[in-house]
Amino acid sequence: MAPRKRILSGMRPTGRFHLGNYFGAAKNWVELQDEYECYYMVADYHGLTSQPHADSFERDLIDLAADMVAVGVRRDLIYLQSSVPEVAELFLLFTMVTPYGWVQRVPTFKEMARQQPDNVNMGLFSYPVLQAADILLVKGDAVPVGGDQDAHIEMARETARRFNRVYGKLFPEPATLRTSTPKILGTDGKQKMSKSLGNIVGVTAEPEVIRKQVLSMVTDTKRVYKSQPGHPKSCNVDSLYKVFFPDDWEHYWELCRKAEMGCLEKKQILAERIVETFAPFREARAELSDEAVKGILARGSERAREVAGGTVTEARQAIGLLPPL
Ligand code: TRP
Repeated sequence: MAPRKRILSGMRPTGRFHLGNYFGAAKNWVELQDEYECYYMVADYHGLTSQPHADSFERDLIDLAADMVAVGVRRDLIYLQSSVPEVAELFLLFTMVTPYGWVQRVPTFKEMARQQPDNVNMGLFSYPVLQAADILLVKGDAVPVGGDQDAHIEMARETARRFNRVYGKLFPEPATLRTSTPKILGTDGKQKMSKSLGNIVGVTAEPEVIRKQVLSMVTDTKRVYKSQPGHPKSCNVDSLYKVFFPDDWEHYWELCRKAEMGCLEKKQILAERIVETFAPFREARAELSDEAVKGILARGSERAREVAGGTVTEARQAIGLLPPL
């Protein structure tokens, strides 16, 4: 049997796990984890680009790892980026083969710089170089991500290609594995769901929190009175019905179109469905102590380091560096 292909993906610890994290990434990770050899990472170095507070950061990264486990990611596959410091060395080596112009062109840099104009740091600028190092450190063949990461994965491919051309073939060119669920919008119905925008709906959060978040969702703005027919096609609540009621969303869309169900009721039903759907995740999350999560990260990071050490040794050799003396 041919060896399984290797995949790597990561998430930044930016606060409690939400629908966008789950449907945009983690659900797909779970689906792929037996078919591929997987490395799933808590990208804490990347998280530092937005300078989180030290106290809440530790909380956030433990929470993220715990949530990954709770939603079904296999514990042995999860690791902590900064516990595999080899990535920092590979990143440094990659900066020497990465033209300035490539990084300048990445659209996410401009977007992040706009979000934090007072803190446009070098880490933000070189973000995709570090991401390329994450992926190529384990010689990933593919990366399961949402569409917002396209430019980053493309740069990882270009980095592999350039390194291989200059120093001899060492890295595969990682493919993108697209997540099948469409992009999940935030409760504002306009922007991508994101903790920093305050528009999230939690996954492992307490039922009360989830209810409050769902009830805060912006609905069909063209529908002022309950007696008016709604426009489910352009309503964010209805797009979540497609996700949470895969078999009978059309029934609910009809009720909305015929003005037989109001927006508030629709949100209440949705909230209960979300609470119920994620109940097993919430229970699994409650059983994980911080110590247990740290143990999981320690073992996963050790596994990742075994591969990482070999790759860095090969890269140093290819470049003409001596082994550390
Ligand atoms: N940039 C990714 C995000 O914001 C997180 C990430 C860091 C990542 N390193 C990665 C994703 C490597 C895939 C592969 O979601």
